[in-house]
Amino acid sequence: MNAATAQTGNPDICLPVMNEQDVQQAVRQCRRLCMQYGFKQVQAFQVATALAELAKNMLYHADGGEIHIRLLHTPRTGIEIEACDHGPGIPDIEQAMQNHFSTRGTLGIGLPAVKRLMDEMQIETVTGQGTRIRARKWR
Ligand SMILES: Nc1ncnc2c1ncn2[C@@H]1O[C@H](COP(=O)(O)OP(=O)(O)O)[C@@H](O)[C@H]1O
Ligand SMILES: [Mg+2]
Repeated sequence: MNAATAQTGNPDICLPVMNEQDVQQAVRQCRRLCMQYGFKQVQAFQVATALAELAKNMLYHADGGEIHIRLLHTPRTGIEIEACDHGPGIPDIEQAMQNHFSTRGTLGIGLPAVKRLMDEMQIETVTGQGTRIRARKWR
């Protein structure tokens, strides 16, 4: 049992993301957990899609990282996904959140999609140290 489990009685599922296979596995696990926690199928799909975007970003922009999935009880039932990496950080969050902005010449729609698909989104980032993105969806 880790610290989060001891505190809330809920498992904090931690999944490494080092390659494409890890991304797919995390997506499947996320969808399964959402269904198990009683989210509607469409919500499970939305949360899993957001997770896929955050996980791919860690892979392509930060050499991998970790995804945490947690069930929330306050103020009501929800699910939180958190993506943590020790990559280069995001120098300008506002710019990164814009549709079609990408530093790698890709679509640049991942972060804005996470914002739309989830109810809450929070980005903490330190240049040269890494990024932590938390996104929540209420059931
Ligand atoms: N984990 C991360 N670490 C560093 N930079 C990131 C990370 N996630 C996103 N970014 C930055 O934000 C930009 C926008 O991300 P996104 O909307 O997913 O588009 P894309 O992945 O196609 O570039 C990226 O191009 C990158 O510069
Ligand atoms: Mg992306």
